[in-house]
Amino acid sequence: MKSPSKVLLRFLLLSGLQLANGCTVFVVGKNATIDGSVLVSHSNDGEFDTDPRLVKVPAAGHEAGSRRNVYFSPESYPRYVGKDRNVQEYYPKSNEQEFKPIGSIPQVEHTFAYLEDTYGAVNEHQVGIGESTCSGVFGAIPLGAPNGTALFSVDQLTQIAMERSKTAREAVELMGDLAVNHGFYGAGEFEGTAESLAVSDSQEAYIFHILPDPTGYSAIWAAQRVPDDSMAILANMFIIRQVDPNDSENFVMSDSVHSVAKEYGWWKEDDGLLDFTKVYSDGEYAHKYYSGRRMWGGYHLAAPSKNFPADYTDLQSDPVYPVYTKPDFLLSAKDLFRFHRYYYQGTKYDLGGETLAGGPFGSPDRWKEGPAEAAVKGNWERSIGLYRTSDTYVVQSRSSEAMEKGGLGAIMWFAPASPNGSVFTPFIVNLSDIPPSFRSGHQQKFDRTSMFWAACFAHNVAQLKWSYAVKDIERRQDHLEDVSIALVQGLDIAYKYSKDMDYVEDAYLKNVEKVVFSLWSLSDELMFKYASGFVNEPDNMSQMVGYPQWWLKAVKYEDGPPPPPTTPKCCHPEKGGPSEKKHSFLRVETIADAQHGLSMLTGKAAMRHFLKQN
Ligand SMILES: *[C@@H]1O[C@H](CO)[C@@H](O)[C@H](O)[C@H]1NC(C)=O
Ligand SMILES: *[C@@H]1O[C@H](CO)[C@@H](O)[C@H](O)[C@H]1NC(C)=O
Ligand SMILES: *[C@@H]1O[C@H](CO)[C@@H](O)[C@H](O)[C@H]1NC(C)=O
Ligand SMILES: *[C@@H]1O[C@H](CO)[C@@H](O)[C@H](O)[C@H]1NC(C)=O
Ligand SMILES: *[C@@H]1O[C@H](CO)[C@@H](O)[C@H](O)[C@H]1NC(C)=O
Ligand SMILES: *[C@@H]1O[C@H](CO)[C@@H](O)[C@H](O)[C@H]1NC(C)=O
Repeated sequence: MKSPSKVLLRFLLLSGLQLANGCTVFVVGKNATIDGSVLVSHSNDGEFDTDPRLVKVPAAGHEAGSRRNVYFSPESYPRYVGKDRNVQEYYPKSNEQEFKPIGSIPQVEHTFAYLEDTYGAVNEHQVGIGESTCSGVFGAIPLGAPNGTALFSVDQLTQIAMERSKTAREAVELMGDLAVNHGFYGAGEFEGTAESLAVSDSQEAYIFHILPDPTGYSAIWAAQRVPDDSMAILANMFIIRQVDPNDSENFVMSDSVHSVAKEYGWWKEDDGLLDFTKVYSDGEYAHKYYSGRRMWGGYHLAAPSKNFPADYTDLQSDPVYPVYTKPDFLLSAKDLFRFHRYYYQGTKYDLGGETLAGGPFGSPDRWKEGPAEAAVKGNWERSIGLYRTSDTYVVQSRSSEAMEKGGLGAIMWFAPASPNGSVFTPFIVNLSDIPPSFRSGHQQKFDRTSMFWAACFAHNVAQLKWSYAVKDIERRQDHLEDVSIALVQGLDIAYKYSKDMDYVEDAYLKNVEKVVFSLWSLSDELMFKYASGFVNEPDNMSQMVGYPQWWLKAVKYEDGPPPPPTTPKCCHPEKGGPSEKKHSFLRVETIADAQHGLSMLTGKAAMRHFLKQN
């Protein structure tokens, strides 16, 4: 085949497409965490239309010869409507049409239980997955669409991985093989044509990259093991560099990785190890630093001693960040909660600091572009914490030690809406179901029973006086998350000795209720405390805190209306002179005062003053 240039391919794929969503993933090996857990996280950063529901897919037995349907995944709400997989939350409601499959594959005898948001997230064997869309040099069209060739989206692959895998390695190989055999398509018009995942189990973690092959009927994929003492960050761009097909302990990949690159003249044997990102990535999407800034930010928090540069020429050809690195300290799930709330505070990229764009109270949120941004070209920094996130989670795949202490499998820490205004709340796969506050609810319908709206409400009310309110929010998050961490440990032990799953389930559900209630209450408290520009505390009401000095200067407060004019000398018969300004104001509280004042003062100014006061 003739070799079309990469530039041409990019043009064909991307012309006219707006690429601006994204997701951030952290993955941490077991020797780099405080308790030997393997951690994988994911933020689902849509445009206020992604589906924030957390649901449980129950384990199931299947008849020999049955098929597993595969669907097109819209990612917006509802992500699926139908009865497959037996999730009540997905059953058709009035006006909803069941989704039609775009194909099917042979079913297995038994499928495992798991939790999912838009993607399969964690299963009963502690296999966890975090997702981030990437650019890729090839794109494909889903089956069912005109000229469609590919059966699998990453959403469907992650579900099937959950249903069938007991380890991260099995999950990676299964997803790769399915995509090679049936084709792979990317998230579509608004995002990249490729995908990356971090996949964990209780022992190890892999980074997985996938894109369609040039025919559209197959796929190109590679996975690299994250060393136990290291962490990695995925931020909407591939990160895997040199892949070594002979190092099967650390790499797994499709044959197409090398065959396609060779066919297109992008790599030959003499070149040595193939650089996956250089060959198959299409670089950062949306704008420069869209991916790199988040990688820098994550490493700035976890490995400040490495001092990775914040600047580079082109992240694809200039790999300033390694595939993985060793954090400076052992990380916990709670550290990842903090990382996902990061707006680069305290650095020169701080979105919430003293910038005019954030307003007087330093809101870190920069809303989506409208018509004005079409005229005034520019970009905002892309932070890790983001207002338009539909949900963020951290999967904690726990060590054999933790399991021996009674551990009830992996913990899923789930926070709907923007993580900076939300609370990470623990779930286990063995709960009989996810409670309605987390299982239902979405952006198209305001709902006071949903955790999504509780968190979205708090985040938005905080805009009244962000730099103040964020402190109240942080205190509440800290409290509720610490209580949850203690609860998880306590319930492990309780289960070990009692084997009473009903008790455990009840305690998890009560904790969920408490979190949702507390978050709604927090919104009311914030409204009370910051209403109408004051700071109101029950024993110190209507504190007039004003605006910060830097902001007053920036908006030229000093150039506003001047102080009232000084009464001319002529009107102060007794003393007069500029130093006697205060006498130009006469307090007039009674008619007697007025008469007295009038007897002292003469002239129109005094009369005006009198008339105004009465
Ligand atoms: C499908 O492919 C054919 C042949 O390449 C092309 O003419 C047609 O426009 C395509 N249809 C769509 C909807 O893209
Ligand atoms: C991880 O920890 C184990 C047990 O403490 C140790 O044997 C192993 O060498 C460590 N591996 C790495 C890569 O640090
Ligand atoms: C992989 O192993 C094969 C066979 O042992 C060898 O020919 C090849 O050069 C090796 N490739 C690399 C990249 O080391
Ligand atoms: C939430 O965002 C604000 C930025 O305005 C920041 O000050 C605060 O520390 C963030 N929370 C966390 C836990 O990082
Ligand atoms: C958790 O669920 C699985 C089936 O999904 C079951 O085999 C296991 O016994 C359950 N564990 C507990 C502690 O209930
Ligand atoms: C009330 O708030 C103001 C401004 O925040 C503060 O200066 C003052 O000390 C507070 N008074 C009491 C009694 O706490």
